[in-house]
Amino acid sequence: MAATIIDGKQVAADMRAELKLDVAALRDQGIVPGLGVVLVGEDPASQSYVKAKERACEEAGIYSDDNRLPADTSQSALMELVAKMNADPKINGILVQLPLPKHLDESAVLLAIDPDKDVDGFHPMNVGKMVVGEKAFLPCTPHGCIQLLQRSGVQIEGANVVVVGRSNIVGKPVANMLIQKAATGNATVTVCHTRTKDLAYHTLQADIIIAAAGRPNTVTADMVKDGAVVIDVGVNRVEDASRKRGYRLVGDVDFEAVAEKASLITPVPGGVGPMTITMLLFNTVESARRAHGVA
Ligand code: GUN
Repeated sequence: MAATIIDGKQVAADMRAELKLDVAALRDQGIVPGLGVVLVGEDPASQSYVKAKERACEEAGIYSDDNRLPADTSQSALMELVAKMNADPKINGILVQLPLPKHLDESAVLLAIDPDKDVDGFHPMNVGKMVVGEKAFLPCTPHGCIQLLQRSGVQIEGANVVVVGRSNIVGKPVANMLIQKAATGNATVTVCHTRTKDLAYHTLQADIIIAAAGRPNTVTADMVKDGAVVIDVGVNRVEDASRKRGYRLVGDVDFEAVAEKASLITPVPGGVGPMTITMLLFNTVESARRAHGVA
């Protein structure tokens, strides 16, 4: 079976067009949603993600306050910037790009962000609310994965889902969202990780596989049931001398071979990636609405 490709770029473009209209309606009421962006250091992947986030804000009509800080920025300088953005009424959402340089305390920074401006959904307050099923800012990549499943007509309720990876940014939250008693949940979820004894045993049971391990070829065709839906969250740079930039991007899934067995599959790039940014815009608009008491 040759899988249908889930076109994340298209789904993201549709959602961004809807968001642009929402932003225009808010602007008509004098409300300009704003996002504060912080990038510490010069990690090339982080630089390109942040640039894409800022460009997407501009296209949607969202104000963005861009802060590039040197790699040797101190904890106190970063905390001061977060405090300043917490207090700035023009800023509805704060995004501190992760990972931070090693000398900085990531947990302390995330904890310092006002939970009402935590559009990444990483503050323990929002994580806790998500876990108990209360309204919260949902983390962007997991939320994007679920939007892709929903908008592709995939039945989540009752499905056996295997999540490969247990990061705080993707694996743990996506597993949690999928077990919620909600229209986008009610799945039976298994979380696999680096200490899982027999990964293929689990993935072969899956109606839906969410690969978020951060390693190329983690999911190969022999590990996938015929007709499964495969969401590839991985973004890995592999050397490729034939490319001008010297590398190409691949996911965690052996795409060509797995596409022969899956019913639906996301490509890398062009799958989950564009959705992450879209959900960030979504949360920022939602935060602006809440800040101004707009329904
Ligand atoms: N690094 C990788 N993904 C993310 C994300 O969604 N948000 C932030 N802030 N950093 C990241």
